[in-house]
Amino acid sequence: MEIRGNRVRISPLKLEDAYFIKNWGHHKNPLLSDYNLPCLTDQEIEEWYNFKTGKGSNRYYGVFNEDDRLIGYMGIKDIRRIWKDSVLGIVFDPNFVNKGYGTETITSYLEYYFFEWKMKRMFLEVAEFNKRAIRCYEKCGFRIVDRYLKEFFDQKIDFNNPYFVEESSAFVIKGGKVYNYIYKMKVDVKSFLGTREDSDGAKA
Ligand SMILES: CC(C)(COP(=O)(O)OP(=O)(O)OC[C@H]1O[C@@H](n2cnc3c(N)ncnc32)[C@H](O)[C@@H]1OP(=O)(O)O)[C@@H](O)C(=O)NCCC(=O)NCCS
Repeated sequence: MEIRGNRVRISPLKLEDAYFIKNWGHHKNPLLSDYNLPCLTDQEIEEWYNFKTGKGSNRYYGVFNEDDRLIGYMGIKDIRRIWKDSVLGIVFDPNFVNKGYGTETITSYLEYYFFEWKMKRMFLEVAEFNKRAIRCYEKCGFRIVDRYLKEFFDQKIDFNNPYFVEESSAFVIKGGKVYNYIYKMKVDVKSFLGTREDSDGAKA
């Protein structure tokens, strides 16, 4: 099974592809350091791969660009066939972010998800400080349905770091613990098609 956009090819993630993640760049922004995967050893990549792809309720894909380079991966998790929903996760090589690949990948996948697979809705969780991701998801038709606090992955974050200072309103420090606001977002066929009507309207 393969899904194609104008520039991207989305196909089930293979272990031999996953090793290429070691060639990816690093995020300078410490708030995104959780997505710095090149630091992993081959064995850790194998563990990561088995953990991600091992569950029957998950599907993981590699995203390849025009040069057939692995520039990202995406997964849908917690697939509930009865409810026809799932939860999206997506991560790109930092060298290939902000070039429209994320939006193209998600919209191409949603075409397949809604109209071939006949799924009904997709959810995701995103940190409030992750403005680029939120903008990308909104362009694909996702809308915010909930907001709550979660423990931040890096309890030793430097509060003077400029990236933290700029996004400090997205954090709460309580009882010596660092929490950050999370948005839960949802897309269904209506909001997915709505984004297209918006852009058609803009073009008219
Ligand atoms: C999130 C991610 C998949 C999005 O893919 P992408 O290819 O970078 O996104 P796109 O280029 O398609 O769209 C990004 C949009 O955000 C906008 N944007 C970028 N930085 C922004 C900022 N600081 N504030 C607001 N908007 C911003 C871009 O201008 C673009 O919108 P536009 O087309 O209207 O100009 C990718 O950036 C990524 O992998 N990031 C690191 C890992 C991550 O955060 N994963 C998501 C976890 S929930």
